[in-house]
Amino acid sequence: MAGKNAIYELVDKRLDAQGFRDEHWEGTFDDYMDIVSRNPKVARNSFQRIFDMILHFGIDRKSKFRREYAQLQFFSDPIDHGDDGIFGLEGSLMHRVDFFKSAAQGYGTERRILLLHGPVGSAKSTICRLLKKGIEYYSKLEEGKMYTFSWKLPREGGEFDIVPCPMHEEPLKLIPQSARRDVLAMLNESLPPEQRISVNGDLDPFCRKTFEDLLKRYDGNWKKVMDHIIVKRFIISEKDRRGIGTFQPKDEKNQDSTELTGDINFRKIAEYGSDSDPRAFNFDGELNIANRGLIEFIEALKLDVAFLYDLLGASQEHMIKPKKFAQTHIDEVIIGHTNEPEYKKLQNNELMEAFRDRTIKIDVPYNVVLDDEIKIYEKDFNKERVRGMHIAPHTIEVAAMWAVLTRLEEPKKAGLTRLQKLKLYSGKSIPGFTEDSVRELTEEAPRRHAGHQSALHSGQDFEFARQRSGDQKERASTRSRS
Ligand SMILES: Nc1ncnc2c1ncn2[C@@H]1O[C@H](COP(=O)(O)OP(=O)(O)O)[C@@H](O)[C@H]1O
Ligand SMILES: [Mg+2]
Repeated sequence: MAGKNAIYELVDKRLDAQGFRDEHWEGTFDDYMDIVSRNPKVARNSFQRIFDMILHFGIDRKSKFRREYAQLQFFSDPIDHGDDGIFGLEGSLMHRVDFFKSAAQGYGTERRILLLHGPVGSAKSTICRLLKKGIEYYSKLEEGKMYTFSWKLPREGGEFDIVPCPMHEEPLKLIPQSARRDVLAMLNESLPPEQRISVNGDLDPFCRKTFEDLLKRYDGNWKKVMDHIIVKRFIISEKDRRGIGTFQPKDEKNQDSTELTGDINFRKIAEYGSDSDPRAFNFDGELNIANRGLIEFIEALKLDVAFLYDLLGASQEHMIKPKKFAQTHIDEVIIGHTNEPEYKKLQNNELMEAFRDRTIKIDVPYNVVLDDEIKIYEKDFNKERVRGMHIAPHTIEVAAMWAVLTRLEEPKKAGLTRLQKLKLYSGKSIPGFTEDSVRELTEEAPRRHAGHQSALHSGQDFEFARQRSGDQKERASTRSRS
């Protein structure tokens, strides 16, 4: 029997006291100026941060059918020992990384919604879960440190109220816009172009009001206002609604914008006397709380048309409009997912033209490589998961083979059966076929098919890391019009 001391010891060993203190670091605005001037990367925007996070886990170079591609360790889920690991889908994952790369460098994809599109069960949700998990994890690391602030506001009787910035903004936003450009130029001097930081937009309505009230009180002395700032580490946490938002449209008739952009706090109106006082507003909509991180729109295209336009503003201008308040700046990655029928509905809808144009669609097809399919099943049906039950030999292989066969097109080449095609795709050799002819085979498949799922692989699975971010954008818009 394990004694209780052994249990305490185990817990002690796992809980990292130093890590805890680091994560709960607090300091003055002045301390923060020290931190950013030594390491401006702490002020990266959400796109730069996610891109760096993905690369943080390392890259393997691989080749498949004589094409080189990069395999990103991140997508094998090193954080949870492979629980959410993705198998296959190399092309699709590389497109995603290209999206983040070009967004991180400010080439325009940061103004687009990333839309994952594919059949049910093709790992769209899993990919979003991975990204969320990744940024939570990264924000706890030395390399991924980020900061936000609280206000220390005097109360009667000499005490203070500590009020956190409701949208956990970057402390550099406290530098008035007139001076910010020069400050950033100074910080960026030492950084290579792709790492330069930019801090755009004004503070959220609550912080702006607090800032202005204090500035008035100190007769324009900004440094005195900064004495009311407590800078603290910002750890992203989906559970605590910090830096990660999720929105799932419910009933189409019953969608409410307050879920996205926050709501009036009726209890506090009495206290502050007006419903347009930002202190009487909860900036706790999904778009608010996702600031600095990412927001996932589940079944994005079921969203009411009016909201789709809100979403456009959020992606295109990086602005949201909470009821009663001016536009508010946000810094977050917007990812949506959708399945075929919903997307097709949108394609025939002229009102949605603007939306389609501002979306980067990434296809997440079913997997067509047998070994990858087997690995997917083994993730769920292994000895650890399935206990006390025997799985007959080769059950998983046969199930995987059957699934893959349903997704393959009848080969056009005479003399080739579907099963042979499956073998070729899985890297087996068949007399008379070389790696080059396999590539041809994947390319002969038409790119898009309407309707049935088996066509969804359409050769895209093998379209590795070719597309650079630039033409990816173009492709997304030409496709959306096709
Ligand atoms: N290519 C893949 N690699 C790993 N797992 C996969 C893959 N495709 C599907 N899965 C698994 O299938 C299940 C369904 O995936 P999910 O992400 O919920 O699909 P979607 O959101 O696209 O409907 C999950 O358990 C997921 O891990
Ligand atoms: Mg899903």
